[in-house]
Amino acid sequence: MFIKDFKKAEIDLKILQRDRRAANIEWQRCVGLWEKTTGQWDKEEAKRAREESKRASEKRRNEVEWERTKGEWERTLGQFEKDEIRNTNTMEFSPYYKVKRFLEETYPEYASSLLDSITDGQYESKKWMCQVLKSEHFGSKDPFKIEIIGSWFGWPLIEMLEDAIEKIEQIDLYDPDEVCQEVVQKYKYHFKPSYSINQFGDYFERNDKRIRHMILCTSCEHMPDIGEMKEYYKDTPKPIYVLQSNDYTDLSEHENCVESAEELAEKNGITDIMYKGEKDFGYYTRFMVIGRW
Ligand SMILES: C[S@@+](CC[C@H](N)C(=O)[O-])C[C@H]1O[C@@H](n2cnc3c(N)ncnc32)[C@H](O)[C@@H]1O
Repeated sequence: MFIKDFKKAEIDLKILQRDRRAANIEWQRCVGLWEKTTGQWDKEEAKRAREESKRASEKRRNEVEWERTKGEWERTLGQFEKDEIRNTNTMEFSPYYKVKRFLEETYPEYASSLLDSITDGQYESKKWMCQVLKSEHFGSKDPFKIEIIGSWFGWPLIEMLEDAIEKIEQIDLYDPDEVCQEVVQKYKYHFKPSYSINQFGDYFERNDKRIRHMILCTSCEHMPDIGEMKEYYKDTPKPIYVLQSNDYTDLSEHENCVESAEELAEKNGITDIMYKGEKDFGYYTRFMVIGRW
């Protein structure tokens, strides 16, 4: 019977169509879910890719920066080495080290004394003196005849004076120590001063009357007062005294220390004071007075 089969087929078709719609809805849901999931994955993947590329470019930047820093360090190191060689050469080839080598070979017991004469403290005290002298423009008209008493090795004071005194005609040095005198000869050979340098022993034993423009002593503590020898200088013009002493009484050879610049001036008969001052050197104070009787 055809109609029975027809009706069954009709019902089955409806059921089939209903099931198909339901399956289709389910399929659409799955598709939506899938798209959402893959979209999320794509997003995460894109985020990871962005982060990766950010990390990669940061790494590249760091590598470039590192290369630059490394190059800079190598240049700095090269400069350090160059400066070290330059400074060592400056010291090694300076007359100070040449004379030091001579002393080490010939009078090793004097080597430390020579080093002492170029220490920061010694240099600072001479620098202080020369700065004050320079500001006065001494020696511009009359080339100066200078005396340095207790001259020790002569240098570096002589070298520094050349910068402070406009024109030097001659320098008389006084020091009874014969090794010091020999060292002065060595320095003279290396520095070749353009003026004469004469050497004498004990200052207090010279008694000819002379014209001198400036009398320096940076070691007044080592000897009697310089002012005692005033009678041996003519007063046309009166010499300018430039004296330094200190209050460091602990050394036996410091026989004539002072407590102030005023005391130094007074002991040496300096009344026309152009400068007086003091400087703290840590374990002692150094005093300086510049002026005329
Ligand atoms: C060792 S130095 C001291 C240097 C001092 N601290 C300075 O800054 O100039 C002192 C020098 O004075 C010298 N001296 C001592 N009595 C002297 C005198 N009567 N005449 C000349 N020089 C003298 C010594 O021989 C010595 O070389």
